[in-house]
Amino acid sequence: MKHLLSLESMSRKDMEAVLQNAVVFKAQRKDNRQHPLAGQTWALIFSKSSTRTRVSFEVGIHELGGQPLFLNANDIQLGRGEPIKDTARVLGRMIHGAVIRTFAQSDVEEFAQFSGIPTINALTDHEHPCQILSDIFTYQEKRGPIQGKVVTFVGDGACNVPISWIFAAAKLGFELRIAAPKNYQPPLALLERAGASHVHTEARPEGEIIRADFRSSGGKVVLTSDLTFAAGGADLLYTDVWVSMGKEAEAVQRIKDLSGYQINAALMKLAKPDVLVMHCLPAYRGKEIDEQTFEASAPTIFDEAENRLHVQKAILSWLVP
Ligand code: CP
Ligand code: NVA
Repeated sequence: MKHLLSLESMSRKDMEAVLQNAVVFKAQRKDNRQHPLAGQTWALIFSKSSTRTRVSFEVGIHELGGQPLFLNANDIQLGRGEPIKDTARVLGRMIHGAVIRTFAQSDVEEFAQFSGIPTINALTDHEHPCQILSDIFTYQEKRGPIQGKVVTFVGDGACNVPISWIFAAAKLGFELRIAAPKNYQPPLALLERAGASHVHTEARPEGEIIRADFRSSGGKVVLTSDLTFAAGGADLLYTDVWVSMGKEAEAVQRIKDLSGYQINAALMKLAKPDVLVMHCLPAYRGKEIDEQTFEASAPTIFDEAENRLHVQKAILSWLVP
C-alpha cells in the first residue's frame, strides 16, 4: 500500500517518476485517456481552508475516472471528537483513497495506518508535499533540471512549505537557502532528519550562516537571517505567507518579526538575471511579496497553481497504477 505522507518519506526515485509522469498528464489533458480511478470514490477530508488543493484534487480525481467526495472535517463526527483511527477504519471500508488537510502530521499518518487505503497529505503543519512537487515541476518546465540550482526561500522558514523544500533539496541535489529571522528558521534536528552528512555554523557580523551538505545527492541547505546573502545569484526566489493557517493568533507578532523578509524589485536585482519568482498562494501583497513583483511574475505563479492539477494526477496514478 503506497501513501504520500511527506517528502521526508518519499524516495528520490518516486519523486522523479511522479515529476516525469506529470509532463505526460499535462501534455495529454485534452485526450484524457488514463482512468486508473475508474469506479473509485476518494474522500477529501479537510480541517483547513483551501482553494487550489481542493479544486485540483476534485478535478484530478474526476479526470482519472474517480468520484471525489469532499468532507469538511467539521461536518463529520471527526469534528466532534471521534478518533482518527475510528474514522479511518469506517472510511477504509467504503472509499478507495483519502486526501487529508489537517494540523498534526501524526493525524495523516494515523489515518494511513488504520484506513488501509492510499492516503495523501494535502498539507499539515509539518509538510506540504504536493505543493513542493508541483513547484519543482514548474521550475523544471521553465528552466530544466533543478539539480545544482539555487532556490531561495524568503519568509517563515519553519512552516510546512520550507520544510518540504528541505527534504526535496536533500534528495534532488539542489541548494536551498532559507532566509528568515533566527526564530523562524527550521530546527537543526530537521537537517539531521533529512540526512545531512555535514552541518557547519559560520559566525559573521551580519548573523550566523548554517550550512548542511547532503553528500548522497549533492544537495545543500543554508539557513541565514541575511536576506542579501541568501538572494545572491539565486535561480528561484520563493515565498509563502507569514501567517500560516492555525497561526492567526500570532499574526501581529509575526508581521512585526518578518517585516522586511519580502520578495521585491530590490531583492530580485541580487538574484540571477533570469530568476523565477514563485509563490504557493494565497499571496498577501505588501507582506511577503510586493504588488509589482507579484504581478510581474503572475504568468509563472499561475502556471505553478495550474500545475497542482497535473502533478497531483501523476501522484494519484502513482498510488493506484
Ligand atoms: N497553495 C495551496 O495549497 O493553496 P490552497 O490553500 O488554496 O489549497
Ligand atoms: N504555509 C501556508 C501554506 C498555504 C498553502 C499555510 O500553512 O497556511
